[in-house]
Amino acid sequence: MSEKRLAVVTGAARGIGRAVVLELLKQGRIVAGIDVNAEQLNELEDITREAGFEVITRCVDITNTEKFSEVLEGLANEFGGIGILVNNAGITRDRLLMQMTDEEFDKVIEVNLKAAFVAMRVACRSMIRNKFGRIISLSSVSGVIGNAGQANYAASKAGLIGLTKTIARELARKNITANCVAPGFIVTDMTDKLPEPVKEGAKQIIPMRRFGSVDDVAKAIAFFAGDEAGYITGQVLCIDGGMAM
Ligand code: NAI
Repeated sequence: MSEKRLAVVTGAARGIGRAVVLELLKQGRIVAGIDVNAEQLNELEDITREAGFEVITRCVDITNTEKFSEVLEGLANEFGGIGILVNNAGITRDRLLMQMTDEEFDKVIEVNLKAAFVAMRVACRSMIRNKFGRIISLSSVSGVIGNAGQANYAASKAGLIGLTKTIARELARKNITANCVAPGFIVTDMTDKLPEPVKEGAKQIIPMRRFGSVDDVAKAIAFFAGDEAGYITGQVLCIDGGMAM
């Protein structure tokens, strides 16, 4: 039943977002991928085509609230509503608190937290109308236990947890669930740019002593998006090799 509903994934062009798109397509869903990076969105189209699927893509900067809302409204109108929303787009601007600039703080909050709020506000209109919705947001283990050098990022990711629990309460009676996944260290471009000693140090605090894969995260998101998870809401699932237990 829910296979027919449109799934929207932000930050879809690469990394975890790309894996989520492919996983949802494999489940037979209609998927729209949103990203600011046009080149990598084209790559996503090629990759999905090679895998025998088709993805709908929209290139937009999700911090442009007006344009982003327009894109989401357009998709909702075209496909009879948004059934599944995956707030995945995220950035880091790491620096110790004392050196962190206002711009670095604001930018991370804008992309990671504010844009998710904007997407939820648009998506929940058609979800309420259709009496069905699954909202999954990418928090982080940093948002659960904090992380030195990531005041902006950890605040945005903890903010997503508060936002998720709040809309889970507001929308529960409408058959709309809202949950977070909180990955630890996952192999993507975001973690590739970390200096080698930081990566090695990170492995020492992961009980499993290794980074996770994008598929580890994508499969959990697909679970929350599916009918099996219909009675689970307001939860935070850590996918972190045991870091935050
Ligand atoms: P990534 O950096 O590989 O991909 C992020 C995607 O978001 C990119 O395609 C980028 O173009 C897009 N994006 C960034 N700003 C945007 C904007 N303003 N408008 C539209 N699109 C924009 O990141 P990765 O590693 O795949 O992470 C995905 C999510 O998972 C993020 O929210 C991240 O914070 C979270 N996460 C990742 C972890 C990791 O170890 N990789 C750990 C915990 C959480």
